[in-house]
Amino acid sequence: MRVLGIETSCDETGIAIFDTEKGLLAHRLYSQVKLHADYGGVVPELASRDHVRKTLPLIKETLQEAGLKGEELDGIAYTAGPGLVGALLVGATIGRSLAYGWQIPAVAVHHMEGHLLAPMLEETPPQFPFVALLVSGGHTQLVAVEAIGKYRILGESIDDAAGEAFDKTAKLLGLDYPGGPRLAAMAEKGNPDRFSFPRPMTDRPGLDFSFSGLKTAAANVIRGAGSGAGSGEGDDEQTQADIARAFEDAVVDTLAIKCRRALKETGFKRLVMAGGVSANKRLRAKLEELMTGLKGEVFYARPEFCTDNGAMIALAGALRLEAEGSLELSVKAQPRWSLESLAPIAP
Ligand code: KG4
Ligand code: ZN
Repeated sequence: MRVLGIETSCDETGIAIFDTEKGLLAHRLYSQVKLHADYGGVVPELASRDHVRKTLPLIKETLQEAGLKGEELDGIAYTAGPGLVGALLVGATIGRSLAYGWQIPAVAVHHMEGHLLAPMLEETPPQFPFVALLVSGGHTQLVAVEAIGKYRILGESIDDAAGEAFDKTAKLLGLDYPGGPRLAAMAEKGNPDRFSFPRPMTDRPGLDFSFSGLKTAAANVIRGAGSGAGSGEGDDEQTQADIARAFEDAVVDTLAIKCRRALKETGFKRLVMAGGVSANKRLRAKLEELMTGLKGEVFYARPEFCTDNGAMIALAGALRLEAEGSLELSVKAQPRWSLESLAPIAP
């Protein structure tokens, strides 16, 4: 089954074609980073308009790359939520309409299910069951996964998501949007022993997270050090790098502590990490170390499939279409959508 995936939930237009027998046939990504950079974050209205400009040309290019005509596809998968509603509506409407024109089914995909399944695009896909750590700009969740669609949320962030905390702290350090990867690059040169930030909510039982206090702790140190955005001559690159490193270490440690707990609680031996923050090198290294110690395995996608992309949507949609089919003619766009409400697919 060959499925076209369309991702437009936030600031990336991602298009891909996934074949359930041959794997990924083609994929294209257009990032709106430059468009939003002047505003220091995503402007929803501008995001929607840019998706309108980019989605169809990217679909055309992706079909060309795969050497396929639209009518040769078996289905279209589009991200239906969670995300920015205007942005979602662009992909949903285009996807549903093309499917109608080409007389093929369309399927509404949950963005976080796309992230969660992205490691299955790699050579050694994870087997079920596993614990998934979903870490993106909008979500931080630990999920017990027994099959596709059989998800139990073990814990989640009660305030900022991990990626959001990275982005906000990066902004305090004067780094441009999107700050997460920039902060991580800066942390490479940082001294891990100069500053120490708390590991929030690790001193009590439970699997929930809280990252907003960490951002405040970083803000206090940045102010005290006379470093950060707009502090002019007080800026000191080494201090900024040291703060970045301490912040990254705190997030990574906190995530690893909770992953270990989730694995213990479920008894599962496999850990899957997904979402934009799973591209973070130090987090990958830490969770590799954790799983080696526990004699288990960790799985993640290549960096370009950790952040938003069309391939994960094409894959998730193909697996759902294959199992369930779809005669749904409505256009679905849901800014909020619980992962636990999805229907399970029998393994
Ligand atoms: O999954 P994603 O592309 O979009 C959402 O669904 O939100 O995640 C984007 C988030 C941003 O907060 C970004 O700063 C963060 O992932 N991110 C990183 C890294 N790469 C992306 N955070 C830390 N280290 C990275 N290397
Ligand atoms: Zn995402």
